[in-house]
Amino acid sequence: CLSVSSPRSAGSIHCEWREFFWNPRTHELMGRTATSWGLILLFYLVFYLFLAGMFVLTMYIMLLTLDDYKPTWQDRLTTPGMMIRPKGDQLEISFSVSNTESWDGFVQNLNNFLSPYNDSYQVQTNDNCPPDQYFIQEDSGEVRNNPKRSCQFNRTMLEECSGVSDRFYGYSRGEPCILIKLNRVIGMLPGKDGQSPYVTCGAKREDSDKIGRLAYYPPNGTFNLMYYPYYGKKAQVNYTQPLVAVKFLNASVNTDIYVECKINSNTLADGNERDKFAGRVSFKLRINDK
Ligand SMILES: *[C@@H]1O[C@H](CO)[C@@H](O)[C@H](O)[C@H]1NC(C)=O
Ligand SMILES: *[C@@H]1O[C@H](CO)[C@@H](O)[C@H](O)[C@H]1NC(C)=O
Ligand SMILES: *[C@@H]1O[C@H](CO)[C@@H](O)[C@H](O)[C@H]1NC(C)=O
Ligand SMILES: *[C@@H]1O[C@H](CO)[C@@H](O)[C@H](O)[C@H]1NC(C)=O
Ligand SMILES: *[C@@H]1O[C@H](CO)[C@@H](O)[C@H](O)[C@H]1NC(C)=O
Repeated sequence: CLSVSSPRSAGSIHCEWREFFWNPRTHELMGRTATSWGLILLFYLVFYLFLAGMFVLTMYIMLLTLDDYKPTWQDRLTTPGMMIRPKGDQLEISFSVSNTESWDGFVQNLNNFLSPYNDSYQVQTNDNCPPDQYFIQEDSGEVRNNPKRSCQFNRTMLEECSGVSDRFYGYSRGEPCILIKLNRVIGMLPGKDGQSPYVTCGAKREDSDKIGRLAYYPPNGTFNLMYYPYYGKKAQVNYTQPLVAVKFLNASVNTDIYVECKINSNTLADGNERDKFAGRVSFKLRINDK
């Protein structure tokens, strides 16, 4: 690198920099020889391969311990939540009896939801189980007893709320049906001594004189024990979730009614302060008469 001007000139600094980048005398690139660079690259290559290997190994071991048929982590102590059908954006059933369009969506929603409950379909896919006892189908040791059968829940068991005898589910007469389901929990045993859990609904706050008489289907609003335990989506492919229908026979019109339904069971704990959705569901009902 030859410099004609004085040592402190800009050309000299430029020259030094160029020499740092590539020194033709020592054959150094940015101050290191090719061997040095090669060793650095090799080190990082080995290092990252090692990290990737560790990651793959950990994932592999973790996946080995996962069971396709059962969630590895599940809190068995909590009481499951409940949900209603028809369900809109909010938990609110609000309609006018004389305005067909105001409840047509609810009827469609129930029709779709209940379609797989058709008696003909249930007979094809599921068993007619003995009631009031668990339908136990355990695996024997390492041998999986899969796929597991499920019990029939016939649409006609919902009687007035089945959409068969009254295809508008009572909405056209101001006596709406609401379906209630208990969220699925694998392995849950919701009752003992042959007593099935049952649903009761009541009015919240000062609405108790507005809610009127209720009818429950199946009788007493029970989730029969034969639908439990649930073994999971993959093991029990045709599982049909049991339902309870509540029909409001004489609810007051033109007023908001806040309804709460809850599960009564001799094994599931009541929902506590910490989880106010456990074992219960609340919704608003409003029936307008014009
Ligand atoms: C159930 O029955 C209704 C009429 O009652 C029908 O529209 C629907 O397609 C049926 N669903 C199935 C799955 O068979
Ligand atoms: C469901 O309906 C079918 C056909 O009507 C009937 O054979 C079957 O016994 C019913 N199942 C239950 C559990 O009621
Ligand atoms: C599920 O239902 C189908 C008919 O829809 C039936 O062929 C099959 O055997 C059923 N599987 C089980 C495990 O019940
Ligand atoms: C409903 O409950 C009453 C009183 O607890 C009982 O006598 C009756 O047998 C029950 N009905 C059904 C169908 O479980
Ligand atoms: C229906 O409710 C009204 C009050 O909202 C009451 O006056 C009437 O007696 C009730 N009818 C029946 C059959 O319960």
